[in-house]
Amino acid sequence: MAADARVVALVPAAGRGVRLGAPIPKALVPVCGAPLLVHAVRGLLAAGCVDQVVVAAPPDMVDVVVDALREFGPTVRVVPGGEERSDSVRLALDEAVSTHPDTRVVLVHDAARCFTPPEVIRAVVEAVRAGAPAVIPVLPVADTVKEVDSAGHVVATPDRSRLRVVQTPQGFDIDLLRRAHDQQDAPVTDDAGLVERLGEPVATVAGHPHALKITTPFDLVIAEALFSGAQL
Ligand code: CTP
Ligand code: MG
Repeated sequence: MAADARVVALVPAAGRGVRLGAPIPKALVPVCGAPLLVHAVRGLLAAGCVDQVVVAAPPDMVDVVVDALREFGPTVRVVPGGEERSDSVRLALDEAVSTHPDTRVVLVHDAARCFTPPEVIRAVVEAVRAGAPAVIPVLPVADTVKEVDSAGHVVATPDRSRLRVVQTPQGFDIDLLRRAHDQQDAPVTDDAGLVERLGEPVATVAGHPHALKITTPFDLVIAEALFSGAQL
């Protein structure tokens, strides 16, 4: 793939944020002076390697999201999201393919990982442009992880040294991601999971603790503590 292959970032932001428990969708919750989604889009564009952004918004709040993202101009498009995260990704992907058919690289980036450092975004793009069809940022696991059964009894202790926690943006050759979504037969929590089901290889690059996903009120406190006062 060309070193300057065109890159689109899809930002699933259509979730309700049930675990955060705010009265508005999570993507619109303010943190460090701006909605999560605004930080996320700003971060993608600041990486300097993203040509276009497509945001999947809560279907009943498309107008509010369009308004919140007005400062970015036509580089950022907004589509109504879907029932599940993977539906939102597919709808954003369809928009990207129809508006920019020359796109070769697609990133899928959770709005909730709004403080992902630009160097992580660049590392994912560079790895895809260098020929890896699927790339995910990962971190080592600090805690021991147990597998339990439905009664809560431990059934296994996987070797921690072989485990990784997965972040976004996840990067793909666009044809592979389209194929992966076309063949989806059961829910997955990340897009690389769909690629794995096709038997295609998924490469890893170093993630970053700042790419944490804001999921609970605790995470919001951590993000405020880490990034208020930072140059955002
Ligand atoms: N997402 C989406 N469409 C959905 C569900 C989720 O675009 N139907 C997005 C969220 O907006 C978020 C990302 O996927 O940016 C990761 O999902 P998660 O952190 O689980 O967010 P929510 O689904 O909003 O939160 P919760 O599961 O607590 O309701
Ligand atoms: Mg969710």
